[in-house]
Amino acid sequence: MDKAKKKAAPKMDKYKAKKKAAPKIGFGERFGSLEELKKEFRTCQRCTLSEECAGRTTLARGDHAAEIMIVGESPGEEEFREGTPFVGPSGGFLCYAMVAAHHLIDPALADYAGDEEHPEVHQIIDDNFYITNAVMCYPGDRKPTTREYRACRNRLWNEIYLVDPKMIIALGKQAAESLLSRPVAITTEHGKMFKARIPGLVRPYIEYPVMTLVHPAFVLREGEESKWAVRFVQDLDLALTTYHKTMEILGGDHDGG
Ligand code: URA
Repeated sequence: MDKAKKKAAPKMDKYKAKKKAAPKIGFGERFGSLEELKKEFRTCQRCTLSEECAGRTTLARGDHAAEIMIVGESPGEEEFREGTPFVGPSGGFLCYAMVAAHHLIDPALADYAGDEEHPEVHQIIDDNFYITNAVMCYPGDRKPTTREYRACRNRLWNEIYLVDPKMIIALGKQAAESLLSRPVAITTEHGKMFKARIPGLVRPYIEYPVMTLVHPAFVLREGEESKWAVRFVQDLDLALTTYHKTMEILGGDHDGG
């Protein structure tokens, strides 16, 4: 083999090596449907957070058959009170970004520019997305611990398996880390596509594309006129554009044909 050929060989090996390194993951508890999962998790004692929020969980919202799933970190106070993700200030900014991306979701959203928290905006979002959190209990005045994120991950895996989305949008570092099972530097890794591995029934795992965005709460802390607000809207636009392009390439699959 001449020198040039020798140099080219490791490029192919690179992928083989990556496949070998796949982590061993498996389901713990399994649920047959989202209804069953929600019933089981209406209250939960699986980790220390059940003490902080008396086992009152904040369950997912949105369409069970949505092609795009949004995963946040953990519920805030308002979410805890209402039992629904993203209905507080972070949800307000998410609505704002969704209205800005109306051309990629539903043109009717354009009518709510300046009135982004109108109930109809929430309704259109719920018709188009499935929204959940990496941790479903309100942690009070602190962030959930790694142990708590881990305790909730099997529930998140079950939700992903059952919704089977075409794309997942992770909001914030902790959501991204829960999905990707590795540390994530979100301020440099936002707006990028990664793969999440979810345990499968037949295959050891199923891969889902994940687009990582910074968390809306971070944007609000930085300011709604900050560069992070602009980046959030750009990243959401990129995620939705990528989704549409992928669906166009997959063609008939998208329409069930
Ligand atoms: N922040 C989150 O990560 N999730 C919510 O549901 C609300 C705020």
